[in-house]
This record gives sequence, structure tokens and C-alpha cells, in this order.
Amino acid sequence: MAIRDILTVPHPILKKVSEPVDTVDDELRALMDDMLETMYAAPGIGLAAIQVGVPKRVIVMDLADKDEEPAPRYFVNPEIIEREGDLVPYEEGCLSVPDIYDEVERPARVRLRYLDYFGREVEEWAEGLYAVCIQHEMDHLEGVLFIDHLSRLKRERAVKKVQKSAQAKAETRPAKSGKDDDSRAAI
Ligand code: NI
Repeated sequence: MAIRDILTVPHPILKKVSEPVDTVDDELRALMDDMLETMYAAPGIGLAAIQVGVPKRVIVMDLADKDEEPAPRYFVNPEIIEREGDLVPYEEGCLSVPDIYDEVERPARVRLRYLDYFGREVEEWAEGLYAVCIQHEMDHLEGVLFIDHLSRLKRERAVKKVQKSAQAKAETRPAKSGKDDDSRAAI
């Protein structure tokens, strides 16, 4: 397994639509393993393949609390086949838009169909944080970021902030420590 670089805005690859996967094989599982390790190291709770520059319809996620056992989930070619309930606001963040958080409204419950780590078909309802996270990640597969749901002003401000802090980091190369004590999860 290896930690890969996570692309941040305004990298153009993040706007690409990802391609369906033909077969869930060892090569794809190696990608999913790398993605999971990358996500844990970030740290984040969800990651789409496009965020590490691979335009395939693959997502990893782990919604376990810090004091719980890891509970990795893998989604290949996920589809939303039903949406239910009111639109619910949630303050989202994203590893490709670091340190920016804002409220996005999404349906409360979605029924999913996807292939798991072993290529088995799964169908299930997602709700709560699971529903938020899978809808956020599935947006990535269409080249859509959570800031695309915000006003143009907010979006442009977010991109500028990310660019500026990426530049500052490249110039100062700070010691790798205490990223921030922000406990909000980036997906
Ligand atoms: Ni994201």
C-alpha cells in the first residue's frame, strides 16, 4: 500500500467525469487499498479515486469514530436508485478543498447499488452521515465538488484560499505536525 497525493482545487482533473470499472480485480483492489491508506493519513472519512488522479468510479469511506475499530467501506460503480426524505443541511468539508467548510443540503436517505471490495453487488439504504458522505463522494465521480453547491462568490473565495495556503506551504515547508485541531471531518 502507498499513500498517494491528493489533488486540490483548482486542479482540472477534479472536474473530470469518472469512467465505470469493468472488473473488480487485484489491480483495482490495490488502488482501493492505496486510497484507504491515503484517506486515513489525510485524515478524512471519504475519498474518490479522482482525488488521487484516477478517473474511475471508485470510492472508499470509513465512518467509524476515533475510539471505534476501523470500518472501511468500498464502492465500485455506485448508483443512487432512490432518494427519500427532506433536504438536510450538513457542514461539509473535502480533502480536495482543505480547511474550507460550508453547509450543503442533500436528501436525507438514498438507496444505493454498488459493487464491494470483492465485486459483489450490494443494495442498501444510506442515511445520516453515510448518506451525506456517499452523495458528496458520488458528486466527485461527476466532477462536482461541494463548493459547486455554494454561491459563486463563496466558491471563488474558497478556491483562492486553498491556492494561497498551498503556495504558502510550498514556500515555507513547515514541520509536519499538528495540522490543526479542527475535529470536523473532511470528505
Ligand atoms: Ni470531497
